[in-house]
Amino acid sequence: MANKVNTIGVLTSGGDSPGMNATIRAVVRTAIANGRKVKGILRGYSGLLAEEIIDLDSMSVSDIISRGGTILYTARCAEFRTVAGQKKGAEICRKHGIDGLVVIGGDGSFQGARKLAGLGINTVALPGTIDLDIACTEYTIGFDTAINTAMEAIDKLRDTSASHERCSIVEVMGRNAGYIALYCGIASGAEDILITERYDHNEETILNIIKAKRSLGKTHHIIVNAEGIGDSQGLAKRIEEATGIETRATIIGHIQRGGSPTCKDRVYASIMGAKAVDLLCEGKSNRVVGYRNGQFTDFDIQEALSMTKDIDQYMYDCSKKLSR
Ligand code: ADP
Ligand code: F6P
Repeated sequence: MANKVNTIGVLTSGGDSPGMNATIRAVVRTAIANGRKVKGILRGYSGLLAEEIIDLDSMSVSDIISRGGTILYTARCAEFRTVAGQKKGAEICRKHGIDGLVVIGGDGSFQGARKLAGLGINTVALPGTIDLDIACTEYTIGFDTAINTAMEAIDKLRDTSASHERCSIVEVMGRNAGYIALYCGIASGAEDILITERYDHNEETILNIIKAKRSLGKTHHIIVNAEGIGDSQGLAKRIEEATGIETRATIIGHIQRGGSPTCKDRVYASIMGAKAVDLLCEGKSNRVVGYRNGQFTDFDIQEALSMTKDIDQYMYDCSKKLSR
């Protein structure tokens, strides 16, 4: 059992995601409700090493639940990947009286959290990423907002694509994971969805689907392409050359990381933030909060990092049937 935690630090790290502010708010308010002090660490591990540390009270987090981004800013930090950087970070936590830490980020940030836990700072990590690519959890903070943003963009694209009777390739984020592509592809009724986990790089198949749809009377064609596959401009060019159908590529990009979080993201982010603080107050450390089978739960960080997950095959098969 770890020592009693008196002051809880919170930081956001890696790519931002909508709902991070709701998480920060929940961390602050739950810590105060539990009789703890709270400090915000700016700019992730980089701000920790630069001692960019501020006091947070209940009012500091007023009016942020509906805002995208992170009021604590976020960053990537090469120095923190080194043992010297991690030791310095742990010392700075001790110097500022931070004996419990909540890290909100992706699995890179979890690695840093694990190192700090190993150096005696009680640490709990929360899955903050639009990519849904964290194996221990079925939910990550920001995914729901990102897929809704992408879906709305694709709906708009369909209007112009239909008017011009074009083929449109729309590239969505997700790093190497295809969750965003699969969800917004199904939701927008895309004619084809390409995800890294299942793509065989056979462009003949893509062309055959386009031709088959045209012969059935479909006048336009949307292909959702996952970022991990990329090359959307090249694919558009090759489709146009092979079929004679005017084809355009659109990369939605960082717009998917912004915007006011959906209700689901606000609520789940809030519960996860509260749970992180409750775990710290129970004396737990080196944990990551996840959502599985309808329950908020927690795992050892090392165990969480060693887990793997894959796209649901039934969902993928359905997406193929629904788009045919
Ligand atoms: P994400 O958290 O979104 O996966 P990154 O992979 O960029 O984003 O990681 C965010 C930060 O976490 C890095 O800039 C670095 O400071 C820290 N980090 C990543 N990997 C490690 C590691 N192996 N050891 C310590 N810190 C790490
Ligand atoms: O992890 C979130 C994410 O938006 C990925 O989908 C994308 O590959 C990456 O971050 C982009 O990172 P950056 O903001 O550094 O361009």
